[in-house]
Amino acid sequence: MPSIGLGTYRITKYDQIFTAIQSALESKYKLIDTASVYRNEAHIAKALDELNADRKSLFITSKLAPKDHGTEKAKAAVEKSLSELKTDYLDLYLIHWPGIQNCDPKSERNKDLRLETWKVLEQYHNQGILKAIGVSNYEIPHLKELLAECQVLPMVNQIEVHPHFQQRDLVQFCQDHEIHVTAYSSLGRTVEVSPLLTDPTVIDIANECSKSEAQVLLKWALTKGFSVLPKSTNPNHIRDNCLLDFDLSVKDVDRLNEIEVNTKYAWNPSVVA
Ligand code: A2P
Repeated sequence: MPSIGLGTYRITKYDQIFTAIQSALESKYKLIDTASVYRNEAHIAKALDELNADRKSLFITSKLAPKDHGTEKAKAAVEKSLSELKTDYLDLYLIHWPGIQNCDPKSERNKDLRLETWKVLEQYHNQGILKAIGVSNYEIPHLKELLAECQVLPMVNQIEVHPHFQQRDLVQFCQDHEIHVTAYSSLGRTVEVSPLLTDPTVIDIANECSKSEAQVLLKWALTKGFSVLPKSTNPNHIRDNCLLDFDLSVKDVDRLNEIEVNTKYAWNPSVVA
């Protein structure tokens, strides 16, 4: 799996998708991350087609929406993503949230629905249609529940993780079970002014390394072994976000480890857990 990908959350207009994908391909990104809830899968397919992109050289990830848990809905969701993305396989497909939309968060039925969904993903994986399968926003209890019942182990957990919200126990659990961690919201820009890009420690390290604050934050994640999915529609940002061929010193990584404030900047999935 490529370690740097283009995130596409909240890029819904076709011209923005086209520009972002064009810039990403020019900068040799291989990974494009989408989801059915982003409502841009068809736009991505159209842009890739117009840009004559070679499907086989790309790694495309999509995700199953919270409304699509359960056997029949999950099958329909996989088929719809394949059709919207105009592809006969996905490199990675994730359950987007453990929560089940419109269900009582405490209902035991949620566990059954999650497992039904996973079994559908396993079937598509066994047929070679979903090359890899995994989850997103899963917390330790969700992972334990899945590990106890699955035939195919989840390969990835895509979660919010950055120096202000390091999720150390969850990351350790994933690493102990060989579940690769993909970090999202690495730049904390789901809020107006990013508290990460403006953190004095991040600014200091960026100045000392002659790199941008974004590059420092993305490099911190790579140093931890995570893959990253910075979202951008700005060609300069897209280019800079993959120029990460530099080292952070052990001291700088430690300084970034110390700015934990246990604050999430993305939406909190536990409201539907
Ligand atoms: P833009 O589209 O103008 O580049 P996250 O991936 O953490 O959700 O962050 C995405 C946000 O961060 C977007 O608002 C994006 O805005 C911004 N962003 C992406 N790359 C950079 C960068 N290199 N420098 C500053 N802001 C960036």
